[in-house]
Amino acid sequence: MTTIRLPGAADIHVHLREPGETHKEDFASGTAAALAGGVVTVLAMPNTRPPLTDPTAFREAVQRARAGARCEVGLFVGGTPENPEVAAALAPQAAGLKLYLDATYGPLRLESLAAVLGHFKAWPGHRPIAVHAEGRAVAMVLGLAALFRQPIHFCHVSRREEILLIRRAKERGLPVTCEVTPHHLFLTEADWPRLGPFGLMRPPLATRADQEALWANLPVIDAVATDHAPHTIEEKQSPHPPPGVPGLETMLPLMLTAVVEGRLSLEEVVRLVATGPRRIFGLLEPPETWVEIEWGGPWTISREGLFTKCGWTPFEGMVVRARVRRTVLEGRVAFEDGEVRALPGSGRVLFADPLRQPGASLQRQRCRCGNDSQGGERW
Ligand code: DOR
Ligand code: ZN
Ligand code: ZN
Repeated sequence: MTTIRLPGAADIHVHLREPGETHKEDFASGTAAALAGGVVTVLAMPNTRPPLTDPTAFREAVQRARAGARCEVGLFVGGTPENPEVAAALAPQAAGLKLYLDATYGPLRLESLAAVLGHFKAWPGHRPIAVHAEGRAVAMVLGLAALFRQPIHFCHVSRREEILLIRRAKERGLPVTCEVTPHHLFLTEADWPRLGPFGLMRPPLATRADQEALWANLPVIDAVATDHAPHTIEEKQSPHPPPGVPGLETMLPLMLTAVVEGRLSLEEVVRLVATGPRRIFGLLEPPETWVEIEWGGPWTISREGLFTKCGWTPFEGMVVRARVRRTVLEGRVAFEDGEVRALPGSGRVLFADPLRQPGASLQRQRCRCGNDSQGGERW
């Protein structure tokens, strides 16, 4: 058996559904899925119920994350037309500001230019504004990035024109970064007949040409992020299926299988899932943290044994040549051979708690650990 060690992955785009929709996911189940996927840091989106758009809702979510999280969690604050100043005041405790410029799941959506401008003016700017922007909205946000010099992060870029525009913006020195999802890298609209409602998400699966443009522009892409968006099987099979697919447990196996297939290098995967995303949001790598990958197989992705509450994956049936054997977080075995060992409440909540700032008191919070790959204290 060949194994390698990689840095723990950071997934900067997940929906953990707590509070409000914990039948789909919660901090405990979502972070279990993260650890099983080799992800040790997640940034959670604010389209919960209630949405994280005011101090009360934000504080409540932080408390729930403290109680439930098994790995590092940071929270985004969400923008509404009414809350630019309130959101800006929450900036020190948030991973960033999330603005929804196009229709998607949940109530957060900025319809008017005035609402978007309000946030560009008020947001303090040392943390990124992450945008759900599709098509023409990408061009609009690039214009605002140039005018306001705010660091902008484009979520789930999926179309050829979008990545080409972002590439041009970067060449001109604009402070922009972007992520792509595994589903846009590994699936296209040709998979719709096979997947039915399980292939529906926002932005939707794109054409083969769009997918090829993403692969051809990997150097422009700062991160692969899952947009892990769990909905139950019943909800997906309902007359109005909500958009979104889970992805935390399948990102690394898929990306590493692409390495085996010669589509990108191992160094490129580490940049896209670990160092790149950490750089965008200023997330320090936790000490004594790594993922052990087993190469080989072939293994077939299946819903069996998934830790996400939704219990399905759009990648079911795909064959992979790598899997996560063990995840060690701050010196302790958090996941091993199909079993999550980290307990709810053992994960740190980033930004929100001064004692738990990225990097703060790491020495104090650090655990001893075995030096070899077999080592690590257990929970
Ligand atoms: O497909 C999606 N699902 N896209 C989003 O932007 C939101 C997400 C969700 O929360 O379910
Ligand atoms: Zn989105
Ligand atoms: Zn999302």
